[in-house]
Amino acid sequence: MAHRSFHMAGRLEGKIAHITGGGSGLGDAMAHLFASEGARIAISDLKLDVAERVAKSVVNAGGDAIALAGDVSKREDCERMIAETIGQLGGIDVLVNSAGVTPRYAPKDWDFEQTWDWVVSINLKGSMMMSRFAVDHMKTQNSGSIVNLASIIGLVGYAQGISDGFNPYPHTKGGVVQMTRDMSIALAKQGIRVNSLCPGFTYTPLVTTLVEDADMHERLKSLHPMGRLGDPKEIANAALFLASDEASFITGVNLPVDGGYTAQ
Ligand SMILES: NC(=O)c1ccc[n+]([C@@H]2O[C@H](COP(=O)([O-])OP(=O)(O)OC[C@H]3O[C@@H](n4cnc5c(N)ncnc54)[C@H](O)[C@@H]3O)[C@@H](O)[C@H]2O)c1
Repeated sequence: MAHRSFHMAGRLEGKIAHITGGGSGLGDAMAHLFASEGARIAISDLKLDVAERVAKSVVNAGGDAIALAGDVSKREDCERMIAETIGQLGGIDVLVNSAGVTPRYAPKDWDFEQTWDWVVSINLKGSMMMSRFAVDHMKTQNSGSIVNLASIIGLVGYAQGISDGFNPYPHTKGGVVQMTRDMSIALAKQGIRVNSLCPGFTYTPLVTTLVEDADMHERLKSLHPMGRLGDPKEIANAALFLASDEASFITGVNLPVDGGYTAQ
């Protein structure tokens, strides 16, 4: 029988990807998966040591990664982090906006307005600013893929009893969903695709305080038709697809990865 050999090229071979919030949770999982598929990765986070921990782990696994520090809510940090990615890795093909915060982790002495501004400045404005500077470069090469981390809570409201209606988290995620659509249309002719993932509740440090409460944990599981929460790898798999050329005709999509949560 003739032996057919396949050349196993990685699904992101030759690509340069910047992952914000790459020092934890979903960003960490995506950095490892993207690197294993051949991408060179810039991992950014608020603190350098947090980004470096993941970059070292990626390198130890045989990947190629650098660590960068910056605050996505600060315009000058966004501009610098994109410039450092291009300077150190030679370009930027993929931007994943994974940096995000929940009001549960806001300082306890903040009032609702301070908390709202803080969450909006990172989840929504930060994703916009990182995209803005990345797009400046992507336009020069007529290609690029942006993957935003929205949420199921950007597509539907929080289940009753979880939010008081003034929680900035769903407000920002709804904004990311619409930003994704708007940018995708504007940038489509320049070869830049913009999509978002809308994960259901997934085991990362972001949800630790929720799942530590046994009753809340059970409630959250039962809200997903599959009866469980997600694993970061399951979100990373979907991000890999949207980031890669396999999704070459997909733009403006807000893809639920949620065990059926938003199908209800
Ligand atoms: N885990 C979930 O259940 C879930 C569900 C839906 C959407 N998401 C979204 O996915 C993204 C990643 O979440 P995660 O679960 O990995 O959370 P995480 O808390 O594990 O990681 C978020 C990372 O963002 C970083 N970060 C926070 N503020 C920043 C800033 N100003 N500048 C730069 N980096 C900053 C944090 O230091 C952290 O490393 C977030 O946007 C989150 O809203 C998460």
